[in-house]
Amino acid sequence: MEILKDIQFDSFPSRLVLATLEETSAAQGDLFVADDNTAGFLSPEQREKAVILPAGESEKTFASIERILARAVELKLDRSSLFVGLGGGVICDMTAFAASLYMRGTRVELMPTTLLAMVDAAVGGKTGVDYGSYKNMIGTFYPARQVWICPDYVKSLPDREYLCGLAEVIKTAILGDEALLIMLEEKREALLARDPILVREMIVHCVRFKAKVVEEDLRESGVRASLNLGHTFGHALESITGFSGVSHGEGVAWGMSKAVLAARLRGDISEAAYRRQITLLTDFGYPLDYPFSVDELIEAMGHDKKIQGGQKRFVLPAEGGKRFQILPLDETFLRKVLE
Ligand code: GLY
Repeated sequence: MEILKDIQFDSFPSRLVLATLEETSAAQGDLFVADDNTAGFLSPEQREKAVILPAGESEKTFASIERILARAVELKLDRSSLFVGLGGGVICDMTAFAASLYMRGTRVELMPTTLLAMVDAAVGGKTGVDYGSYKNMIGTFYPARQVWICPDYVKSLPDREYLCGLAEVIKTAILGDEALLIMLEEKREALLARDPILVREMIVHCVRFKAKVVEEDLRESGVRASLNLGHTFGHALESITGFSGVSHGEGVAWGMSKAVLAARLRGDISEAAYRRQITLLTDFGYPLDYPFSVDELIEAMGHDKKIQGGQKRFVLPAEGGKRFQILPLDETFLRKVLE
């Protein structure tokens, strides 16, 4: 096991490690949470202490949290017990949420199995469930004691799921990892073919980048909000397509193209930077042209939980000393970006 980063949050430490499949299947815990897609990765011993939920975003509900908590009660767990989540973002977010509630907080470790969860969801302690059509509306900040990053899981992902994670990788590169940006540009084919050495290198870049951001700003009062690059636009698109037509990654990729366009229209980035970022998104195959109603999209953006004091705030790429900026955009300008 290789330690990628040790973070000391206010009340407890959080360790990010690179692990092998053998190490993850030998991991100890008192309650394992998995879903239909990941239960097969549990060892027989882990399975005896598991709760296995149906897979999918539609299961990210209080009812699932209740099932996790009920299993913890059944297993007679106490506050010193360890919950372990094995799965994508939905399982990681819910396991940590349930752990933060059980007896006012038990220990939690996460084993992300999707690229998205490895580079984003499992790192940084955001937990929660959806509420109606609002994504991640209810939750807590509750970092895992250990996050086991096992790049081997990436091999088994469906293409669309892999691309979903790659959108967050591109986001990281645009936000401020020039070496990663160059790797994405120069090694695109090998990354799309999931070359194991490059995939591992790419994951390490992203985990280190995100760890640095959340270490500085766990509760998103400042720099962490930059991780929402593309998300305000993207969530709105996901929302008006009923969270089924457009995947999260496709939404984020499209959202980043709009953020990049907004920055260009404002004159914040050069034509060359604009072209470079759009080319990256198109080269990775993300559709950037969707039919939608601008009114409906603007209405959906009004529901984004990142709104402060009724103002829509957007993360836009920047150039020079700063790689991004966070600012409100008025509706007239938004229409220009969206039409
Ligand atoms: N996914 C964005 C964040 O963790 O803040």
